[in-house]
Amino acid sequence: MDVQTTLAAATPPTIRREDYRPPDWLVPDIALDFDLAAERTRVRAKLDVVRNGDHARALVLDGDELTPLSVHVDGQAINDWRIEDGNLVIDLPADAHVIETEIELHPAANTKLMGLYASGGLLCTQCEAEGFRRITFFPDRPDVLSRYTVKLAADRNAYPVLLANGDNVANGDGLDGRHWAEWNDPFPKPSYLFALVAGDLQANRDSFTTMSGRKIDLGIWVRAADLPKTHHAMAALKTAMKWDEDVYGREYDLDIFNIVAVDDFNFGAMENKGLNIFNSRYILADPDTATDADYDAIAAVVAHEYFHNWSGDRVTCRDWFQLSLKEGFTVFRDQQFSADQGSAAVKRIEDVRTLRAAQFPEDAGPLAHPIRPESYMEIGNFYTATIYNKGAEVIRMMHTLLGAERFRAGADLYFDRHDGEAATCEDFVAAMEAGGGIDLSRFRLWYAQAGTPKVTARLAHDPISKAATLRLTQEAPPTPGQPVKQPMPLPLSLALFAQDGEKRHEQLFVFEDAEADLSFDGFADAPVLSINRNFSAPVIVETDRTPADLAFLSAHDDDPFARYEAMQQLMLDTLKATIEGRTHDDDAVVAAVRATLEDPALDPAFVAEAMLLPSEQFIGDAMAVVDPDAIATARDALRLKLATELDGLWRDRYQRHAAAQFEYSPAAKGARRMRNLALGYLAASGSPEVGAQAFAQFEAADNMTDRIAALGTLANGMFVERAEALAAFHARYCDNPLVIDKWFTTQALSLRADAAEQVVALLNHPDFALTNPNRFRSLVGAFSVNQRAFHRVDGAGYELLAQQIAALDPINPQTAAKMVPALGRWRRFDESRQVKMRAALEQILATPGLSKDVFEQASKSLG
Ligand code: ARG
Ligand code: ZN
Repeated sequence: MDVQTTLAAATPPTIRREDYRPPDWLVPDIALDFDLAAERTRVRAKLDVVRNGDHARALVLDGDELTPLSVHVDGQAINDWRIEDGNLVIDLPADAHVIETEIELHPAANTKLMGLYASGGLLCTQCEAEGFRRITFFPDRPDVLSRYTVKLAADRNAYPVLLANGDNVANGDGLDGRHWAEWNDPFPKPSYLFALVAGDLQANRDSFTTMSGRKIDLGIWVRAADLPKTHHAMAALKTAMKWDEDVYGREYDLDIFNIVAVDDFNFGAMENKGLNIFNSRYILADPDTATDADYDAIAAVVAHEYFHNWSGDRVTCRDWFQLSLKEGFTVFRDQQFSADQGSAAVKRIEDVRTLRAAQFPEDAGPLAHPIRPESYMEIGNFYTATIYNKGAEVIRMMHTLLGAERFRAGADLYFDRHDGEAATCEDFVAAMEAGGGIDLSRFRLWYAQAGTPKVTARLAHDPISKAATLRLTQEAPPTPGQPVKQPMPLPLSLALFAQDGEKRHEQLFVFEDAEADLSFDGFADAPVLSINRNFSAPVIVETDRTPADLAFLSAHDDDPFARYEAMQQLMLDTLKATIEGRTHDDDAVVAAVRATLEDPALDPAFVAEAMLLPSEQFIGDAMAVVDPDAIATARDALRLKLATELDGLWRDRYQRHAAAQFEYSPAAKGARRMRNLALGYLAASGSPEVGAQAFAQFEAADNMTDRIAALGTLANGMFVERAEALAAFHARYCDNPLVIDKWFTTQALSLRADAAEQVVALLNHPDFALTNPNRFRSLVGAFSVNQRAFHRVDGAGYELLAQQIAALDPINPQTAAKMVPALGRWRRFDESRQVKMRAALEQILATPGLSKDVFEQASKSLG
């Protein structure tokens, strides 16, 4: 074998969307029988298989690391089965047969956390996308829908609770201290929605009465000691159930809805039918251990998984290229839900910040892909910010184009037409067209083209004719495999303001072509342009607005998002001018921040958002070549200037929002946000007195938001209280892994020059473990987004990440692969960093026995 063929043999096959073919065999019914134990679990499966269409192809049942102990066809043991690429292949004469298989699993040894695995004392499953094939031989693809009957047997002491999808139809005792439970799920579902849980769990039980008067039993299952931390999640669940009835007319369908929290989990949570399984960080909360952001995220994820019951479970995906069909839509739904629970403006700002931090860089790099990708090697790598967050923006644009009422008509039609089916993105768009009465022919480009469109807007004014003209251009940058792109329909929400602050024009302009000119009459003086208000299109807008225009909008725009955006743009322009050594006027930023801080009409939660400096990464994304050191210096300097010149205001806001007894309400959250922002600015001076103030807050806090904010302030600086606070925090929370994660993250995100050394030391801390994804992400993942530390000029950060990815890969390839994109951004940096980042990727690729997950990410990143 020559080198070429060795390499080719090592490259995993590429799966292509255009190759989709309906399944050869269907499985209308499956019965599963689990004899559970952590070391050794026996799985017996009985599949009713039916030939699908007129063909003579063999039955191929997917398998991953499975060995059949026995295979029966129609009750007879057979030996002429074969294993090909891990899959079980059986030639079958007739059109319908009963296949029985038996295999053995070792859940305690399953560190990939896909399939059946052990977490703490529990046994649980994760099947999306391709984990079911690690449990039993099955056509593990989302367009094979089956009715499941599941029998679970286990030791009664170790696993008193036995849960699966659907309804609990029978229970009993077995021999030798074992017991069993049988569950039936009447709704046909794809295998990725299968779940079981066995363990010593207690439930927070409640109920919800649906719009048609059915009473649903709700349970949130956790370790007994965690029960007091489940109330927020339960309240969120009930609110979400009601909201989906009110806003989408969707009622829950089974009689039971269970949620289980587990500590070892590769992602946030999973929408298994009637039995959602969650990363415990998205369930457990009390004021002492969870921040306001945690509370908000818990409500959002509980709602997200619940909403999947319709957008995902009742209507599922035909194939994994359609993933955004359920994820983009469901993220949009959870964003709407959260917006309805508090400040819609603050929620929109947060969502756009997430999109810009996670999705824009992806769309601008070697791993860019459309929200409906064309190909993949490992589908686990496509649970991306593009599929989820850009996918949600695409649904939001349809909502904007149609308006709430017609969008609802389109959604109703979609659910109606496809209930019980495995659908496509095209089905969704077609339902929106028919139900909403709109032509979305060109809009479909949003599903096909990757890359973030760039819009330029130039406003000219002629005092003689009193006309203002707006010239717009759009361009979608080339992305891998897509060198040339077509203009896409961009719903741009626009307004023009007169100099006295009056809004003189407002419209939704659907910008379809490469260029457009719009004129507006009756402007004696030049108006100020407000564009892409509420972030109506997920694009980058470049305007020639002056600092004065931006300051004006930050004080007068009546769209809160646009107001926030104007301040961000003003800060960004100032920072870029500093970095590029151009003369400019920092005082415009100071004046604008002062005006916003002093505006009594504004909600403190909004003010705190508007006062945040653009992140170092966001500044870098706006530069031709990212210069992490210059960015850090300029940002620190602007921060110090704002701190010094507005010192009195920061002190005043800190006092004015002094801690009251903890309450989780929008007003109390806004006050904490403002107070901790003020603390951060006060600390920029480095004055020892602020160290003492932060330490006092750290000790006196009755909630995690205030405590961790004080700790972060101390961790970022050179204050004498730093070490004592970190030690005290660790001692206080050493029994709570979710809080210890925060301790790791706070240090990994430190702005100090020694952050990388601190991370190296923490990798050797007894609490660090590769086996727990939350812990790995809390240290290594957080470090990889600390721009100044990760991109340290000597390349130490790159080497550290490459080593950790290689170390994690054999244990948990899925979580390891998620860390690769940080290195894939190499093209954005200077030559010397590029060389080091590429070397780190090469080093990863040279690791013997690399998983296809990491291989795909690293090889495409070098691209
Ligand atoms: N469907 C889950 C959700 O609600 C996430 C599953 C993630 N699976 C994966 N292989 N990354 O978003
Ligand atoms: Zn989801």
